[in-house]
Amino acid sequence: MSASSNSNPRPSVGGSAAGPRLTVVDIARMYADGERIAMLTAYDYPTAQILAEAGIPMLLVGDSLGQAMLGYESTVRVTMDEMIHHTKAVVRGAGRALVVGDMPFLSYSGPVEALDSAGRFLREAGAQAVKVEGGVRSARIVETLVKAGIPVMGHIGLTPQSINAIGKVRVQGKSRQGARALLGDALAIQEAGAFSIVLELVPEQLAAAITDRLRIPTIGIGAGAGCSGQVQVVTDLLGLGDFIPRHAKPYADLRGTILAAARAYAAEVADGTFPGPEQTVRMDDDVLGEVLGRSVLDRPIGDAGIPVGGIPLDRDL
Ligand code: KIV
Repeated sequence: MSASSNSNPRPSVGGSAAGPRLTVVDIARMYADGERIAMLTAYDYPTAQILAEAGIPMLLVGDSLGQAMLGYESTVRVTMDEMIHHTKAVVRGAGRALVVGDMPFLSYSGPVEALDSAGRFLREAGAQAVKVEGGVRSARIVETLVKAGIPVMGHIGLTPQSINAIGKVRVQGKSRQGARALLGDALAIQEAGAFSIVLELVPEQLAAAITDRLRIPTIGIGAGAGCSGQVQVVTDLLGLGDFIPRHAKPYADLRGTILAAARAYAAEVADGTFPGPEQTVRMDDDVLGEVLGRSVLDRPIGDAGIPVGGIPLDRDL
């Protein structure tokens, strides 16, 4: 079933930062109502606050954290502890938005590890759901988590944690075999109980066909407009990264804004105009004069080489 064809979507249920936190039931309702779902990644408290205020209903603490924030070359290096640290900050700022924690590489290689990692996201960090990469190969893990009461978002198509196995970032599912496999992956993850599925770097016709055949929302990234919703890496959206992928559209130029601000600040420090009177605190000049006037340094030095009147005791100062 496709719920993305409604041309008159209602305002997002995430439109206010106040009120109860959204749940996967709210996401299912948005989907059923034909409301397109806008998800963004977030990695820190102030950004989460702003995105929640903008009414973004779902925030993903993606393991893209690795490249976007931590300077790693891939997501493979990201650890559970790093994910938990950043998820805690996002949860504190997220207002009503549902927070999805991205299970990092090797944190769900078996049911026991998966339950332990997902449990940390929900119990320790305060997320409401987790995301797991992989289709058929991850279906058993998804089922285990869902049976334990943990909402799971699937992720198929390009799965960046497999970059060392697949060789390079490229569109998935273009061949007959690839398209069939991707459809099978989507159905397997849906049957395992996931509440939604990310489709990453999938041709738009295939993504739309998968979306039509599912009864849970698809969230696309580089998968065309036929998905039930979209997700973008927030640093791409804001123009903060040093590389913008083809599927991303920068809605701002924060890199340029930050560069200009840092240069202006450095110039004002250099020429002495920062800090100015507005950023500066003054004290009563008489008080200062009194203190400086009684300073040992201001007294004439006597014959014995010590200040006239002796060395002041602490209580004299
Ligand atoms: O880590 C991430 O940001 C993601 C999105 C690309 C879906 O997995």
